[in-house]
Amino acid sequence: DPEDTLKARPPVVTIMGHVDHGKTSLLDAIRGADVAAGEAGGITQHIGAYQVTPKKGDPVTFLDTPGHEAFTEMRARGANITDIAILVVAADDGLKPQTVEAINHIKAAEVPMIVAINKIDTAGANAQKVREELLQHEIIVEAMSGDVQDVEVSAKEKTNIDKLLEAINLQAELLELKANPDRDADGTVIEAKLDKGRGPVATVLIKRGTLKVGDTFVAGPAAGKVRALIDDHGRRVKEAGPAFPVEVLGLGGVPSAGDQFTVVENEARAREVAEYRQSVLDKKRTTAAPM
Ligand code: GTP
Ligand code: NA
Ligand code: MG
Repeated sequence: DPEDTLKARPPVVTIMGHVDHGKTSLLDAIRGADVAAGEAGGITQHIGAYQVTPKKGDPVTFLDTPGHEAFTEMRARGANITDIAILVVAADDGLKPQTVEAINHIKAAEVPMIVAINKIDTAGANAQKVREELLQHEIIVEAMSGDVQDVEVSAKEKTNIDKLLEAINLQAELLELKANPDRDADGTVIEAKLDKGRGPVATVLIKRGTLKVGDTFVAGPAAGKVRALIDDHGRRVKEAGPAFPVEVLGLGGVPSAGDQFTVVENEARAREVAEYRQSVLDKKRTTAAPM
C-alpha cells in the first residue's frame, strides 16, 4: 500500500507465559471482565482475542494464549501475528518450561517484549529472583538497567494494571503501527469451529483493509460470503478494520487456525482460490503420508 493511504492502527498484543501464571486473569483485569472463571478447569484452550480501549489511551487488541504444554503451536502462532508480546511470569513460581518456550517464540518473531511479573500479592513472591532468572536468557529488564520494560502486577488485586497499559502504550507509540483501512480486507484465522446452530465460524484478526458484511472471501481452503460479523462483546457489527478481531459467519467450510483470510472480487474468484489452496493442502497430505 502507498504511504499516503496508511492510517494509525491499534497494536496487537499477545499474552504469553507458563500455565497458570495468570495470563487470562491479567487480561480479565485489563478488560474488567471475568473470563478465567468461566473457562473449563481454568485452562485456556484457544487463542482469545479482545479489543480494549483504556480510559487513558488508544485501543489495544489483546490475544490470550494457553500456557499448557500441549499448545506450543498456538504460542508460536500468537507470537507471529503480534506487534508486542507480554511475558507473564508468576513472582512466586519464577521461570518455567513454557516461559522459556514463550521467550524463544518471542525472540524468533523479533517482537518487542514487556515483562509482567504477576502475583506480587502472594506470600512467596520474589520479583528480583524473576529478574535474575530472565538475565540467564539474555533478557535485561529496566529494573536491572536494561531496556526491556518490566512491571510488577497482581491480576487478583488489580495492582499496577494502569502501569502495564502505559508500558504497552509507550511501546506501541515507538512502533508507529499503520495499515490501509480503505481496501479489501485480509487477515489471519486465529480460531475456527463448526457451531451447531450457526455453522462454520471463524475468528479473524484483520491485518489491513476493512471487512464488511456481504464481502466474498477465502479463509484457508474455504470460500464464503460474510453473513454476519460479531465483535468480542457478542455484538453484531457491520465492518471490521485493521487489528480488529471479529467472528465471521458465512463460511463454506471450517478453516484451520493460522490460515490466511482474503477478500476477493467475486464468487468465481473465491472458488478458484479455495480450490488452489485445497490442492496445495492435498499435495502436502499425500507427501506427508504416502500409501
Ligand atoms: P492457562 O491459560 O491455563 O495457561 O493459565 P493462565 O496463565 O491464563 O492463568 P489463570 O489466569 O487461569 O490463573 C491461574 C490461577 O492463578 C487462578 O487460580 C488465578 O486466580 C490465579 N491468579 C492469577 N493471577 C493472580 C494474582 O495476581 N495473584 C494471585 N494470588 N493469584 C492469581
Ligand atoms: Na489457568
Ligand atoms: Mg489462560
